[in-house]
Amino acid sequence: MLKTHYATEVNSGLLGQTVTLAGWVDRRRDHGSLIFIDLRDVSGVIQLAINPEVEPHAHEIGSTLRNEYVVQVTGQVAMRPEGTQNSKLPTGDIEISVKKVEILARAKTPPFYINEEVEVDENVRLRYRYLDLRRSRMKRNILTRHSVIRYMRNFLDSKGFAEVDTPILIKSTPEGARDYLVPSRIYPGKFYALPQSPQQMKQLLMVAGLEKYYQIAKCFRDEDTRADRQPEFTQLDIEMSFVEEGDIMALMEELFSGLVPAIRPDIKVVMPFTRLTYAEAMERFGCDKPDLRYDLQINDVTDITAASGFGVFQKAASAGGRIRGIAAPGCGNYSRRELDGLQEIARSTGAGGVVTVSLGKPGTPAGELEMEDVHSIAAKYMDIEQIRQVATRLKAAGGDLLLLAAGDDDTTSAVLDRLRREIARRLSLADEKTFHFCFVTDFPLFYRDTEHNRWDSMHHPFTSPREEDKPVVAEKPGEVFGRHYDLVLNGYEIAGGSIRIHEADLQRMIFRLLAYTDEQIDERFGHMLEAFSYGAPPHGGIAAGIDRFVMLLCQESSIREVIPFPKNQNAQDLTFGAPDFVAPEQLDDLHIKIDDKIS
Ligand code: AMO
Repeated sequence: MLKTHYATEVNSGLLGQTVTLAGWVDRRRDHGSLIFIDLRDVSGVIQLAINPEVEPHAHEIGSTLRNEYVVQVTGQVAMRPEGTQNSKLPTGDIEISVKKVEILARAKTPPFYINEEVEVDENVRLRYRYLDLRRSRMKRNILTRHSVIRYMRNFLDSKGFAEVDTPILIKSTPEGARDYLVPSRIYPGKFYALPQSPQQMKQLLMVAGLEKYYQIAKCFRDEDTRADRQPEFTQLDIEMSFVEEGDIMALMEELFSGLVPAIRPDIKVVMPFTRLTYAEAMERFGCDKPDLRYDLQINDVTDITAASGFGVFQKAASAGGRIRGIAAPGCGNYSRRELDGLQEIARSTGAGGVVTVSLGKPGTPAGELEMEDVHSIAAKYMDIEQIRQVATRLKAAGGDLLLLAAGDDDTTSAVLDRLRREIARRLSLADEKTFHFCFVTDFPLFYRDTEHNRWDSMHHPFTSPREEDKPVVAEKPGEVFGRHYDLVLNGYEIAGGSIRIHEADLQRMIFRLLAYTDEQIDERFGHMLEAFSYGAPPHGGIAAGIDRFVMLLCQESSIREVIPFPKNQNAQDLTFGAPDFVAPEQLDDLHIKIDDKIS
């Protein structure tokens, strides 16, 4: 190699020895005649010192070095003079007294600083991703990603799982998003689809008798990008035969509770993982992926408030809805503007708003509040006893702010979930160094797609209904529960899976319920039904979003920060400039004509 050591391998144990290092000039400082260079390589940074009196030739080259030049240096390991040590660097007590410098590559001035954590426009960073990845935070993220994947592989290997890779050019497999399609040259008018997940293939591997499969799998979904969503992302995909829900959940608990401290010993994992049913999660937190690091639970106050003369409450209750609320501790003194801010957030969920009740006299127990302590448009329609009861139910006291939402459950859940997260953010209630995992189970198998007036799968159509529900699936699809489980971490869904259907008849019936005709079923899923007719074992599995999990582990707020070459918010790859037009001959080969209006 062109080096004997990586920068941070050099330590005071090597004092006096000659070493050769290679890397990038992180920064150059001229101190009178002495030149100091911070040399950066993948491991970190080390200081080089070039003394003109000792090495005039090296000094001459040193004085021409600029940031990001690639150099090879040979020199002696020396202690830094007393008072010039840098305790922030692992190599901060030593330096290399340079004998020889060679420039391996010159560099233009980069479009942004590599050596400083400054805010840079994301599109510029993505255009020059190879420079962005030189920055220490990004390098740390990518290396953390590597450690996570390595841990996963080792863990599953130790449990007897086989890693099997599955094709990228396949036929559509539904996960609820639009497919990315690849036109076929050989079969005019026909297309491959890129997998939204390896779902069907891993099930076929179970029919094949593999029993324990995993894969670090690329998935492709043509859906809107978000901070925690990419069109192309990576899953840890797992499938097992002869298992039940508890087996998969126990496996995941062991994996993640071991993985987190192995990579981030400073993060505390709450053990054992919490379990909530879907109904409980919706009732107590208003969503199926609650952040459990803080409490702020939702409570139903319909029985207390419906009878008040307040129109908003009366109307909701008489329409079959409910009045539910949360208490924001210590926010009873919110200004008009702050309350308006919360109204806006409530309305952004599509609701009419939220009823705020500000309680004065900090510390007063709920049962001792007086009317003069209460500020709310609802106050004049409620008596003090009702207010005290509501405050008691919401575990509030004087000085707190009550937030009450009225309407059907979907509406009140959405509003209170959103406000719960907002209050937690404002009050910094979520401890950054705590990972609170939670399994959510007992999801309904279907939901009503009101736009198309049909049933759709909550998860995907291969999820099995509960055993006891199987006989009534066709008659009462809205009341059937699925054997689906999600793994939630700090408010994010990081994994989802299920016990699958392994009976051809039941699978066909589910497809029919999802409004596929028999012809469509045979055409799109005939291979699955046929496979199930050759002895399919009971099986189940799960897939974890690796990017999303690494984002949380690196404490980043966007998934793009942990993907080496992500798409930007508009689904473009700015490093390569994709998507892009292609040569007309390529289109001819693929039998494709572009609409004149587009090109
Ligand atoms: P699901 O669709 O729930 O299940 O996906 C599993 C996990 O993958 C992550 N994820 C994503 N991450 C980034 N960008 C996206 N667009 C994206 N979509 C999903 C999430 C999610 O929890 N085949 C099933 C799994 C199974 O049943 O075994 C599946 O793909 O963290």
